[in-house]
Amino acid sequence: MSQPRPVAVIVLAAGEGTRMKSRIPKVLHALCGRSMLGHVLAAAGELDPQRLVVVAGHRREEVTAEAVQYAPDVCVVVQERQAGTGHAVRMVTETLGDLPGVVVVTYGDMPLLRARTLAALIREHYAAANAVTVLTARVPDPSGYGRIIRDDGGSLAEIVEEADATTAQRAIDEINSGCYAFDGALLADAVKRVATSNAQGQEYLTDVVAILRGDGHPVGAVLAADPGEIQGVNDRVQLAQVRRAYNDRLLEAWMRAGITIVDPASTWIDADVTIGQDTEIGPGTQLEGRTTIGAGATIGPGCQLRDTTVGDNAAVSHAVCVQAEIGPGATVGPYAYLRPGTRIGPGAHIGCHVELKNAAVGAGAKIPHLTYVGDAGIGERANIGAGTIVANYDGTAKHHTTVGAHAFLGSNTVLVAPLTVGDGAYTAAGSVITEDVPPGAIGIARGRQHNSQGWVERRRPGSASAAARAHGAGDHGDEGIEGGEGTQPR
Ligand code: UD1
Ligand code: CA
Repeated sequence: MSQPRPVAVIVLAAGEGTRMKSRIPKVLHALCGRSMLGHVLAAAGELDPQRLVVVAGHRREEVTAEAVQYAPDVCVVVQERQAGTGHAVRMVTETLGDLPGVVVVTYGDMPLLRARTLAALIREHYAAANAVTVLTARVPDPSGYGRIIRDDGGSLAEIVEEADATTAQRAIDEINSGCYAFDGALLADAVKRVATSNAQGQEYLTDVVAILRGDGHPVGAVLAADPGEIQGVNDRVQLAQVRRAYNDRLLEAWMRAGITIVDPASTWIDADVTIGQDTEIGPGTQLEGRTTIGAGATIGPGCQLRDTTVGDNAAVSHAVCVQAEIGPGATVGPYAYLRPGTRIGPGAHIGCHVELKNAAVGAGAKIPHLTYVGDAGIGERANIGAGTIVANYDGTAKHHTTVGAHAFLGSNTVLVAPLTVGDGAYTAAGSVITEDVPPGAIGIARGRQHNSQGWVERRRPGSASAAARAHGAGDHGDEGIEGGEGTQPR
């Protein structure tokens, strides 16, 4: 059976959340890349309600600003004084007027609740033509929750808060999740009749169940298929539990979609990340924000990628990348730091202890060792020698550097920006380059070597060095390395 579009979903988020011991409102604490409120609004949005309502009170400017991020059309209703969940809903019905249709109420601090669970609640509510349908759960430890009281026939009779419950009622293990589907018109009338004659002196939304039943309306309950979904967050211990549960859920979905996750226990993937098939995620990896990974890539071990794009078949290990783009087939790391505005071309290689910022690296270029490149463009297939530093900052302003295609920078080159090294040009190792190097030229900017013959015997007579000279000693072990690392024009 098709499910009716709710006339409203109301998210209660006015409470202070004292047990978080925080300067930021509870529902703004984040897990898996979104605030708790963001997760709840995303789930609520999937129900396509005519109105998405947030009840805000404590720190309402921040709560409102956050809500708008996820639901631009959100309607924020202010509850000045947190006088109970019934009072919060009354503020909504009194502000919005008639709500003819199904009204869903949920909480801003229940980020694990799935849209499909709320949809099942609405379907049952609609099928049974109830005035209210409560989402319930059976839990091993019901303490703190409202208990579901059923009559002799097993039908829902009322909800009793723990503070008001008898010992026998406290033994009941079926609890109120705090989520409900209501008939909007009946809800608006019933919340006006909620009393405050209870242990907490509050207007309890839970009392609406007994009120509607007393009026002769059908009321019902639906057991949550997964009781874990109704876990609320009251403190940071529960926040960590919920974060772990949400992460596990996301990782399982990725593994089922064809992604290898070597160590789920040490892998964290935010809700808005996307990953292509056959990509392997190594241990100790965090993929954050709007990070997008292509197919067949290898990420990790030990990576933190935030708002970063990685192309197909790229490999990134032990790297921190923020707002960077890594092209297909490129390799990054180990121990690389790609800062905002870094774009690595296809097949390029960024190696060990290399930091880049606002830098575009052409296809097939290599920056293998111990290098800083800031505010620069590196041409295709250029080779940047070990220890190269782009000196982009003169203490006042940042300047741009261009290195041409197939250029070759000797080890320990300093490029003092602004500067251009032409296509195919070289720099000599140890050069501090302050002027442009034309295409095809070599820039040499260093002291010329002078060897003082016999210096050791004159100035260090009797030393081991002098003795070594006298014996004409031996093997030099590591002879010249052909090509690749350490290669320098002489
Ligand atoms: C509530 C239910 C309880 C249920 C439990 C599930 C009532 C009376 N009790 O209890 O049956 O088992 O949730 O977690 O509803 N809020 C407002 N304005 C208020 C009061 C609360 O917006 O005036 C919001 C809070 O920010 C929170 C939510 O409503 O997000 C629940 O409030 P809370 O005080 O935590 O209710 P519980 O005592 O846990
Ligand atoms: Ca609570």
